[in-house]
Amino acid sequence: ARHLLGIEQLHPIEIATVLDLADSYVDLSRGAVKHSDRLAGLTQINMFFENSTRTQASFELAGKRLGADVMNMAMQASSIKKGETLIDTALTLNAMHPDLLVVRHPHSGAVDLLAQKVTCAVLNAGDGRHEHPTQALLDALTIRRAKGRLHRLNIAICGDIAHSRVARSNILLLGKMENRVRLVGPPTLIPSGAADWGVEVYDDMAKGLEGCDVVMMLRLQKERMDGGFIPSEREYYHRYGLDAEKLAHAKEDAIVMHPGPMNRGVEIDGTIADDINRSVIQEQVEMGVAVRMAAMDLLAQNLREERSNG
Ligand code: CP
Repeated sequence: ARHLLGIEQLHPIEIATVLDLADSYVDLSRGAVKHSDRLAGLTQINMFFENSTRTQASFELAGKRLGADVMNMAMQASSIKKGETLIDTALTLNAMHPDLLVVRHPHSGAVDLLAQKVTCAVLNAGDGRHEHPTQALLDALTIRRAKGRLHRLNIAICGDIAHSRVARSNILLLGKMENRVRLVGPPTLIPSGAADWGVEVYDDMAKGLEGCDVVMMLRLQKERMDGGFIPSEREYYHRYGLDAEKLAHAKEDAIVMHPGPMNRGVEIDGTIADDINRSVIQEQVEMGVAVRMAAMDLLAQNLREERSNG
């Protein structure tokens, strides 16, 4: 494929290919010399129309570790502020011949639209509530390394499912790899059609976490709640925040995940988040660099082939 727009378009074999290559980039990133020239001569532009710490930093590091020329567009200081549209901005940058365009945008579908207008490879770094494919891939790599496999696992995704592109991409990926996915959260934060997604739905943490191998917590995405139902943080923590008592319902060796940014004392107890025997939150961040290196390497290979075939 030319682009990485979502997990929806990926075949399980393609998912495994990204993860296998990412494994080798974990080794490179842990080595004394964190550099390869796989993307030498290529230009990568990062366009983030929404705030980011992990995704932007890891895409930048990933490009640099592979030898690409990386440019971070400061979108707050761009001509978007003067009324230029997303598409005109993309066409302007495309005229400068980038090879890889990494885009985060608050509107679902904006990255797909942009990909139709440019001649380079586009990577979706999160679009609205739609998809965050590299997040799901890095979560999958973290699970595979911790559990030794990525199939037939019981995985609970907990909290604000309704506003989460992370949940959507993870549901798609974990389902394709034949895992049993449960969604756990208040009914107001679980989409009404969720039962048709091949998942089980629970509104009770004790029942939802029973026998789980993986517990994935999500942030309350208040910025996407459009003034609708916003639960009280205290009440929410009481019923849905992950603490030792609720985690005790999962398997004894269950791992705890969170994509970040994390709100301690809202969706997760800080002690659980910091418990290195249970929490793999820092591993997720580490895997983020490796997965983005792998994704860009594979897309660059496709781009080179496409160009050499005329
Ligand atoms: N998980 C994630 O996308 O984090 P950032 O918003 O910090 O990139």
